[in-house]
Amino acid sequence: MDFLSNDKLVIVGAAGMIGSNMAQTAIMMRLTPNICLYDPYLPALEGVAEELYHSGFEGVNLTFTNDVAEAFTGADYIVSSGGAARKAGMTREDLLKGNAEIAEEFGKNVRKYCPDVKHIVVVFNPADITGLIALLYSGLKPQQVSTLAALDSTRLQHELAKYFNIPADKIVNSRTYGGHGEQMAVYASTTTVDGQPLTDIIGTEALPRQEWEEMRQRVIQGGKHIIDLRGRSSFQSPAYLSIEMIAAAMGGKPFRWPVGTYVNNGHFNHIMMAMETTLDRNGVHYKEVEGTPEEKAELDKSYHHLCKLRDEVIAMGVLPPIPEWHKLNPNID
Ligand code: 2OP
Repeated sequence: MDFLSNDKLVIVGAAGMIGSNMAQTAIMMRLTPNICLYDPYLPALEGVAEELYHSGFEGVNLTFTNDVAEAFTGADYIVSSGGAARKAGMTREDLLKGNAEIAEEFGKNVRKYCPDVKHIVVVFNPADITGLIALLYSGLKPQQVSTLAALDSTRLQHELAKYFNIPADKIVNSRTYGGHGEQMAVYASTTTVDGQPLTDIIGTEALPRQEWEEMRQRVIQGGKHIIDLRGRSSFQSPAYLSIEMIAAAMGGKPFRWPVGTYVNNGHFNHIMMAMETTLDRNGVHYKEVEGTPEEKAELDKSYHHLCKLRDEVIAMGVLPPIPEWHKLNPNID
């Protein structure tokens, strides 16, 4: 039975819906036989493990534990959905305080039990902030920590495919950047629709400006829409995409969508957010984001919103003031 690697993959929050779907996806994608499920809530965790054992997967060495030391020791890759999920009426930002503290503990556990981990993916919301906190406390390099942001770009792709009634594959390079939150920047200028630039179509009869505006709002509210439809937060799509990210970090197919990454480039400083990125066995790297002046203004707005959230976390005492970050994690300047 061929696996992409033999490395130890730890799934944090494995008793939850995202976590259990991540485990199943990782097994089905044959990433590694060595998967450890971790969650502090043992009964549901055991239930998830039992179901996976009952699936009769071949060649896997699946373990589960509610002991963080046992789970994290020897971990090569970790994907964490181990925060509280968003409920009806909440924004992702409403989760800030509780999940910020969970991210701090997560980062400290990485530093303590698996400082040699190769890559971690942070999925719990607000992911840009929890990812930043995890990066700082883990002591890892910025290239080793990424957050799930792709869901917004795939939602844009799907909205366009639905609108034009064409296969999603004909929507190429759909992109959102900045925060995975109420203030993400939905770009048009990167995308082609059946070979034609989206910016040439917006404002024509094929896609009146007003329709485009409504589409952008549907992308921004994509997570809320799932909550409205299902009565709970999304889990299939975040689970799948975050495991694709891990696969890329393990040396599989490079990841095709933007991911959240630590950015400090003079324009955007001391922040984690979605950029134009590559994610492969060398970790995550970002490029400057190209766009129209309006798009750049949107991205600046998204960045400033994230700075506000980051500063709230500093005011809460979960993160130290920025000048002290380097002391906390020497890989951060
Ligand atoms: C979403 O956008 C859960 O943040 C996730 O659906």
